[in-house]
Amino acid sequence: IKGNGEFPPGFLFGASSSAYQIEGAYDEDGRGPSVMDLLQREDGMADYKVAADHYHRFEEDIRLMGELGLKAYRFSFSWTRILPEGNGQVNPEGLKFYDKVIEMLLKYGIEPIVTIYHFDYPQRLVEQYGGWRSRQSIGDYAEYASILFKHFGDRVKYWLTINEQDHVIHLPERLGIRALLDEAEFDRISQQCSYHMCVATARVIRLCHELVPGGQIGPAMNPMIGIPASGKPADMLAAAEYNELASYYLLDLHCKGMFSPLYAKYLADRGCFPEIEVADLEEMRRNPPDFIGVNYYMNQTVQQSPADAIAPRGTGVIKREEAGIYALTSNPHVPESEWGWGICPAGLKMAIMELFSRYGLPALITENGLGDRDELLPDGTVRDDYRIGYLSAHLKELRDCVVTGYPVIGYCLWSFMDVVSGHDGMNKRYGLVYLNRNDKELLDLGRFRKDSFHWYARVIATNGAEL
Ligand code: BG6
Repeated sequence: IKGNGEFPPGFLFGASSSAYQIEGAYDEDGRGPSVMDLLQREDGMADYKVAADHYHRFEEDIRLMGELGLKAYRFSFSWTRILPEGNGQVNPEGLKFYDKVIEMLLKYGIEPIVTIYHFDYPQRLVEQYGGWRSRQSIGDYAEYASILFKHFGDRVKYWLTINEQDHVIHLPERLGIRALLDEAEFDRISQQCSYHMCVATARVIRLCHELVPGGQIGPAMNPMIGIPASGKPADMLAAAEYNELASYYLLDLHCKGMFSPLYAKYLADRGCFPEIEVADLEEMRRNPPDFIGVNYYMNQTVQQSPADAIAPRGTGVIKREEAGIYALTSNPHVPESEWGWGICPAGLKMAIMELFSRYGLPALITENGLGDRDELLPDGTVRDDYRIGYLSAHLKELRDCVVTGYPVIGYCLWSFMDVVSGHDGMNKRYGLVYLNRNDKELLDLGRFRKDSFHWYARVIATNGAEL
């Protein structure tokens, strides 16, 4: 069914970034270490020490955002710029930096949408008590968020709690775990960390509502919704079970304060049901999010896994296979990027519909974009028609949702400018603005408008009428 009409006036056409992927200046002006700074990159891939040097060039970058006509900019606060130790003493230089960023955004009429924590967890909290493994992490995260609410809450109305909890819990180094653990042990720790993040989220939602007049807050999730590989009942059931265990399991906690029965059994069978306090679930039920932040890159195609399958170790962002439950496979009808990410614009519409009917909350698209190897031509242009095609197809599906009546607050594509990719350094670029550096050399870190920049400017100027 196709909707008719246009995006409503005031729709937040935006773009995203995250602190550790763009700021650089990792040890300047009192900033403390985060687990991401200490990450050992493979094969000489760019690390995050300089990134895009946005810390020193934010004025130039925001001027470009103004030229683009952005209505919203999603960025994250670097926790250790504000609290170098993760807790304790506040670093006024950190607050000052974000004051300048926010003031300038507002001057250009750009709505700030901020992520409280996007992967760059304070290393000192890992050293102090094991980070998210310990219940103490809940109070420290809440304290950090309160500092932000009190300081920036007069100017920032849209808040995101944790970026991609559904992925970060599967990546040991992002939890600050460097020891090689066996899978069962890692699963146990990871589920405990995840549970603490759920309790912390509910607490911070409550604090936001208490401290920020008119503030709205939600998690930024990446639920890669599963579709059955075939009409075989076993594949259909595998997809349904995958969705309970790998797509909705955290939103069920965030939005309803409950473990889905299937997820609870799965955890209990593996001996990794977390230690919980009953009052926590009540706190979640009383403090659901105002909206769901959705990072959408792809969905998953799911088939049955034979009971005797030997599933590969769960490295990467989600488990590719759970023996006897589900196995992920590829979809011959869906093209893939060079990195094997399926390109399925219809999946964005399906995700919005599905999340709304399950939770009844508005969506805010917090990420969506295409990573590719762009080439800067001698005349300073980048001909990224492939990215325009990708974004346009997704925005058409989004427009369809919006005009049909699904509540969607805005669309922040990933990413405003090229950033250091989470897994692939500078080889994989997502930006509307080209960053002139590569993995080995910083070059001049110049900013160049890609064709997609000019295209998106037109999309915003016509409020999405021209896609
Ligand atoms: C999301 C993250 O998972 O995907 C971003 O929130 C990340 O930080 C983006 O950069 C794209 O992933 P990658 O690994 O291609 O950079």
